Amino acid sequence: MSTRTVIVGTGSFLPARVLTNSDLEKTVDTSDEWITTRTGIKSRRIAARGEETSMLAAGAARQALAMAGITPAELDMIVVGTITPDMTMPSCACLVQQELGAENAFAFDLNAACSGFLYGLDLADKYLCQNPAWKILVIGAETLSTRTNWQDRNTCVLFGDGAGAVVLAGDGKGRGMLGSRLFSDGRLWRLLSMEGAPSLNPDLARPENDGSYIRMEGREVFKHAVRSMGDAVTRLLAEQGVAAADLGLVIPHQANLRILQSLAERLGIPLEKVYINMHKYGNTSAASLPIAMDEANREGRLAAGDLLLLCAFGGGFTWGAALIRW
Ligand SMILES: CC(C)(COP(=O)(O)OP(=O)(O)OC[C@H]1O[C@@H](n2cnc3c(N)ncnc32)[C@H](O)[C@@H]1OP(=O)(O)O)[C@@H](O)C(=O)NCCC(=O)NCCS
Repeated sequence: MSTRTVIVGTGSFLPARVLTNSDLEKTVDTSDEWITTRTGIKSRRIAARGEETSMLAAGAARQALAMAGITPAELDMIVVGTITPDMTMPSCACLVQQELGAENAFAFDLNAACSGFLYGLDLADKYLCQNPAWKILVIGAETLSTRTNWQDRNTCVLFGDGAGAVVLAGDGKGRGMLGSRLFSDGRLWRLLSMEGAPSLNPDLARPENDGSYIRMEGREVFKHAVRSMGDAVTRLLAEQGVAAADLGLVIPHQANLRILQSLAERLGIPLEKVYINMHKYGNTSAASLPIAMDEANREGRLAAGDLLLLCAFGGGFTWGAALIRW
């Protein structure tokens, strides 16, 4: 049997500060009732000043490495999916490498917005097929609070900060990554964008410039997210000869509860099989999938042999799905 990519460790790291819907009621014209019914989000975590994306990423990575029983020096490759790196250069991944002391790895960032972790997983899987002895760290990490317009109720209620990580290794026992499917459509970029470059240099931060912030046509994004993720999942399951009823757990990108309800309905998957934690963390972009995977794993929601489906959608647009035998 050929070698497959197996997840041997998961980890997550969330900033300590909790921002609730009631807190937001005090700063923008919104209500806990509106946010809860329209999005399913109750609270989100916010990084402290100076708590950069790379620090959250390293926190998640340490947990994943501990679970895997692998030292940082054993890592061959580090990929960080993020749209909020500490700086434009160096990459967040190189800062994580330094933080961990993973001197034998090469490291780089990957920008596919909320699909960044899924793209990273797909890429790492291909590297591991070529190099079955490698150990690869894939992280999704964001501090979207730094790029949120806190006066804009259309966006500021949605996003949160955090990081999640997985350690991947080769395994020949038939479990692991069965397949993945990625898609993009750059024609639609204006529906979800963030134009300013990231920088720790305060002189370059331009809060008066609307382009520094996340901009979004919410209703349009909603429609595309449901349709695109639905299509990606249907295609992947058909390619793999797997029926929706065979899935043990679905972990989707945690953007909006109504998106997930529509998606589950479209795919004929009962909502009980869909992992949901957005009520606690909001939309953490690239971090959302690996945080949810780590929580599901530690809660015992994943048994050996279960079929796990991941799917994501984000700015670009980017989207896709992956199927894993746990
Ligand atoms: C953003 C989103 C929650 C808005 O929900 P919606 O049901 O589409 O709401 P609409 O945009 O139609 O707005 C309805 C009304 O609520 C208002 N509203 C928007 N945000 C609000 C808030 N936080 N509190 C109270 N009212 C709000 C709007 O101004 C609008 O008022 P109007 O009818 O007087 O103009 C929803 O479109 C969504 O989740 N989209 C996808 C976002 C996403 O997931 N993005 C990331 C993808 S990776």
